[in-house]
Amino acid sequence: MLAVETHDLCKTYVSVKKEPGIKGALKGLFTRAKVETQAVQSVNLSIEQGELVGFLGPNGAGKTTTLKMLSGILHPTSGEAKVLGFTPKDRNPQMLRQMSLVMGNKNQLWWDLPAADSFAVLKELYEVDDARYKKRLAQLIEVLDLGDKVNTQVRKMSLGERMKCELVAALLHAPKVVYLDEPTIGLDVVSQKRIRDFLRELHQEDGSTILLTSHYMQDVEELCDRVIIIDQGKKVFDGRLQTLKDDYSDSRRLTLSFSESVDQDWSAYGRVVESSPEQVVLEIPRQDAAQIVGKALQELPVADVSIQDIDVEDVVRRLFSGSKE
Ligand SMILES: Nc1ncnc2c1ncn2[C@@H]1O[C@H](COP(=O)(O)OP(=O)(O)O)[C@@H](O)[C@H]1O
Ligand SMILES: [Mg+2]
Repeated sequence: MLAVETHDLCKTYVSVKKEPGIKGALKGLFTRAKVETQAVQSVNLSIEQGELVGFLGPNGAGKTTTLKMLSGILHPTSGEAKVLGFTPKDRNPQMLRQMSLVMGNKNQLWWDLPAADSFAVLKELYEVDDARYKKRLAQLIEVLDLGDKVNTQVRKMSLGERMKCELVAALLHAPKVVYLDEPTIGLDVVSQKRIRDFLRELHQEDGSTILLTSHYMQDVEELCDRVIIIDQGKKVFDGRLQTLKDDYSDSRRLTLSFSESVDQDWSAYGRVVESSPEQVVLEIPRQDAAQIVGKALQELPVADVSIQDIDVEDVVRRLFSGSKE
């Protein structure tokens, strides 16, 4: 059985456009312009149990909307989803007990209570038995290096500590399917790394299925073999991260800095990644690198040259714009 499966999953938000000011408020009584946003469009997913999949896309691509539908918080406009054989929107208690959604920008713990109190409530909610709860909690606290911190009021914690406690809360009941929506957003690099290491360990130990969205490519590069990329609600890539890398391994990134302003049509050089009058970043075929650099040195006031491999972040960003040349 697949852990997560969707068929032509779609979500269209309908919202009412409001005009600012009192005129808008009055007008709103009579006419309401409806705005439709096709947040998720015919997305097909098929994720095996035990996979750790990176779910990528630019802001507004539809990642959170998809995860909310997979958790049953939002109902699809059309299409269907199955999670561990259940239809998420039914919110079957058996499914809820085996799944968790963690949102990096949302607090699920009680702000005024020590985190440990929230954990105790969740234990009852998820009906985790005493022995298992104790063991699991101790383990999560240890791996996340939380120590006594769990006895502190949540409001007094740092962002990183709070996120770790959110993870404990979400994982106490050892869910089989875990959705992590930007779990490292806004954290310092040390906390990011700690959480990454934790997720790797958790995945190995629990054998859980994890769907992870992140802004940080490093999270995905370190943790996920498989990535799914969506852009404007549509799936644009689904496969191994290595495949993406291989596709671009014959390209190089050439950066030229100039000693004076340059206004130039770059099409004879390569594909422009970024350009300003002082500097241009180009993507060029590896085998032409020497010749292109030679040409640039001859024709342009070049002050500095650097050639690098293309990184995955570039590749992914390119996929976002839908132009995989
Ligand atoms: N409650 C909502 N009402 C209307 N539009 C929404 C709502 N939530 C999200 N959207 C829109 O749906 C699209 C997808 O949003 P989202 O799923 O949050 O993307 P992501 O998580 O990839 O950044 C965006 O255009 C966003 O503005
Ligand atoms: Mg989001």
